[in-house]
Amino acid sequence: MTEEMVEAGWSDAQADCRRVFEENSHPMWVVEDLKLVDVNQAALLHYGYARDEFLGMTIDDLAAEKPPQAGAETKSGHAPRAVWRHRRKDGSFIDVEVTSFAVTFRGRPASLDSVLDVSYRRRTEEQTRYLELLLATVTDAVVASDDKFVLTGWNAAAESTYGRRAEEVLGQPDALVFRTDFVGVQRAEAIKRLLETGRFHGELTHRRNDGKRIHIESRAAALFDSEGKRLGYVSVNRDITERRYAEETIRALLSDVLSAQEEERRRIARELHDDTAQTLTSLLVGLRAVEQSQDLGQALGAASTLRGLVSAALLGVQRMARGLRPSVLDDLGLEEALERLGLEVSRAQGFVVDLHSTGPRLPRLPEGLEIALYRMAQEALTNATKHASPKAVSILIHRNLTEVRLVIEDDGKGFDASEILSETQLGLVGMRERAHLAGGSMTVESSPGNGTTICVSVPLPGKKSSAS
Ligand SMILES: Nc1ncnc2c1ncn2[C@@H]1O[C@H](COP(=O)(O)OP(=O)(O)OP(=O)(O)O)[C@@H](O)[C@H]1O
Ligand SMILES: [Mg+2]
Repeated sequence: MTEEMVEAGWSDAQADCRRVFEENSHPMWVVEDLKLVDVNQAALLHYGYARDEFLGMTIDDLAAEKPPQAGAETKSGHAPRAVWRHRRKDGSFIDVEVTSFAVTFRGRPASLDSVLDVSYRRRTEEQTRYLELLLATVTDAVVASDDKFVLTGWNAAAESTYGRRAEEVLGQPDALVFRTDFVGVQRAEAIKRLLETGRFHGELTHRRNDGKRIHIESRAAALFDSEGKRLGYVSVNRDITERRYAEETIRALLSDVLSAQEEERRRIARELHDDTAQTLTSLLVGLRAVEQSQDLGQALGAASTLRGLVSAALLGVQRMARGLRPSVLDDLGLEEALERLGLEVSRAQGFVVDLHSTGPRLPRLPEGLEIALYRMAQEALTNATKHASPKAVSILIHRNLTEVRLVIEDDGKGFDASEILSETQLGLVGMRERAHLAGGSMTVESSPGNGTTICVSVPLPGKKSSAS
């Protein structure tokens, strides 16, 4: 026990405490009436002050902000064990947790404060909250695994994309959770690439528990610790099923259009060759006969034969034109053309087709729109014939100044309209495309046993649609 120690206020019995104070790696100080009256080495180092400077300050000089309620303070200016923001000599801020003990110092009541710097912990906690929010908000499925591919992370989007809850999958090997097929690359090759380069970017398909196959664009990266040891993997997975389906549908529609075009060309070529060209050849031969005829009677006879040929050729050309577009539309307008179509189908298929039309029929709809609506009704009737075995089909056309609606309803078998259809079925897709091209929309309502209702609504040119 030295004299200085006695002078400094520490009694003999407190010598050990003094060492604990001095040599503690946590900053500590003694406060008396807000004044800092003693300080250890760790505090001087941590706050960046010389001893004299420190002891010339009050506890308020250290605080970066005033305490929220002055009433809650103790004698030392701190509530026992609270988190404070302090300012160091260089102006930087630290968050500290201060634990205060009531002590007797130089015979007077004082407070011994022990300080724990929690800045790093707080920053880490903030970072964690930020990451949690980010993971909960992104729409891509984020999946983490350890280096043995055992799942360790599964965000909200992963739950909805893969249809599995985090509790079900965390701790499971990923091969048990995903039924994955890689697209354009073998599984072993993809894993090798990930192991060798630490990265993978590619397309996969998964089969979900509910049987649905989904297309995923996946980016994966290996996660390393500061020593370069591989800790695991993180992958960000985007569900591109809809996009893939749309692309496949467009491809199929395009190839359908092209083959329909080819088919149509062949048909026209056939007709021109077999019908028109034949007739024109006969005409040529007949004309030569007229040229070479010796008398008027013979010429007149040849001319009347030729007239017959020309009118046959004309009929042929008209028939060809009718085949190219529904000419009934030109002659009759949409409503009557549909009525006639309904009659034909009804006669051929043996179920009732009735047509109701409401609203004005004039002025006529634009030509392209009439054709589109006619073709849609035609496909809906064909579908009813092929798939529904209905007793009756009703077609309703409703027109007002701003839009036209076409509703085709059958009382047949119905189907599950929510199922993604195969790429080879183009009827409904084509109808929807026609509706979209005309600036409108189409809905299909159907369920097994309850018939099918297809509703098309298209705005009329220059007017806004009242349809949603
Ligand atoms: N009115 C209906 N009643 C019952 N099922 C229907 C009806 N319309 C469509 N479907 C079902 O929806 C499927 C898709 O119809 P869609 O018209 O797109 O294709 P498709 O008729 O099979 O072939 P296509 O490409 O020749 O039209 C049909 O295969 C059928 O299962
Ligand atoms: Mg069809």
